[in-house]
Amino acid sequence: MKAILLAGGKGTRLRPLTSNMPKPIVPILNRPFLLYQLDLLRRVGSVDEVILSLNYQPDQIKELIDSLPNLGLKIRYLVEPQPMGTAGAIRFALEFLDDTVIIFNGDVLAELDLKAVLQFHRNRGANATIVLKPVENPSAYGLVEVDQDSNVKRFIEKPGNQKLACNTINAGVYVIEPSILHRIPKDTPWSIERSFFPSLVDDGERFVAYVSTGYWIDIGTPRSYRQVHRDIMDGRFPAEPFRSRPKGTVVVAASAKIEDGVTFEGPCFIDEEVVVKTGARIGAYTVLGRKCEVGSGVNVETSILWPSCTIGEQASLSDVVLGQGCYIAPNADVSEVTLGDKAVVPDPSSTAD
Ligand code: GDD
Ligand code: MG
Repeated sequence: MKAILLAGGKGTRLRPLTSNMPKPIVPILNRPFLLYQLDLLRRVGSVDEVILSLNYQPDQIKELIDSLPNLGLKIRYLVEPQPMGTAGAIRFALEFLDDTVIIFNGDVLAELDLKAVLQFHRNRGANATIVLKPVENPSAYGLVEVDQDSNVKRFIEKPGNQKLACNTINAGVYVIEPSILHRIPKDTPWSIERSFFPSLVDDGERFVAYVSTGYWIDIGTPRSYRQVHRDIMDGRFPAEPFRSRPKGTVVVAASAKIEDGVTFEGPCFIDEEVVVKTGARIGAYTVLGRKCEVGSGVNVETSILWPSCTIGEQASLSDVVLGQGCYIAPNADVSEVTLGDKAVVPDPSSTAD
């Protein structure tokens, strides 16, 4: 069977991290995000082809995926001539679909039994099944109301301040029969959340909901991007290298060079070819990406550094996300900020006032 990953959005809320890198491949620890989704799809067993529905910076995604060996799934790239919206993108893929299809938002990470979702879909004889997730603050998502028999009764995308009758949101995972996709107009930008799903409800299609209580997150904001790292390091989402290790483990890659007198506080992750100089302190929930260089006496905590960042001696980083190749000068004190690729923070003592 086939799966579609909707991976064509601009990732605006994750800027500046997504200025040069599309959201589906931002690194989570040391793996592009999309690979975690492919793990989930591989576990279904019956999925043999994944259609990557792309629009924003598609070549970067193609190049990266093509460079990875042993994906175990056939990947088909479909690039829309213009952003077609979440339903338009699926309509664009329709000619490649012949059977029940699993559709995934390209930015959700979930611990979910997709086989059970498929079984539920079949048992209910549904034309569409949507996975729901109860959350504490549903207003920023698609809110879905169901009846006692799990039939979808109402779909309200981003209800904002509206009074809410439930807390179950669209988890961005669907199982759909291709026969109902013809109701999406061809070559027209169309939203699955604002147009297609409400139309299924209005027309009384067999549209049911599967509630999942497992781990779920949309990684599309800097806050949730940081949160997913925390969750993996704390074991709330099972992923290597933390899955099989005790709580609070300090994971240091084999080729990292750690000088004497460096202190670590777990959980944290130090990738290949990182250099950490003497007297530095690497605090909990820190990720040092490949080839980062951390000077002596530096203090880093709760921060995620993408590859090839340089941190000058005695600098301090707290609650920071740095894109690739950033330079933080000696003595700089940086906190609660997300900086894009190649950002430079100067030495505070050399800044003219
Ligand atoms: N191919 C393609 N073309 N993909 C697109 C397009 C497009 O024009 N527009 C968005 N996407 C992809 C994005 O890349 C993302 O993976 C997914 O569709 C959802 O878009 P977001 O922009 O991340 O939507 P959202 O997070 O605000 O809301 C959606 O996800 C929530 C769950 O995370 C909605 O589906 C909500 O109902 C849902 O609750
Ligand atoms: Mg999203």
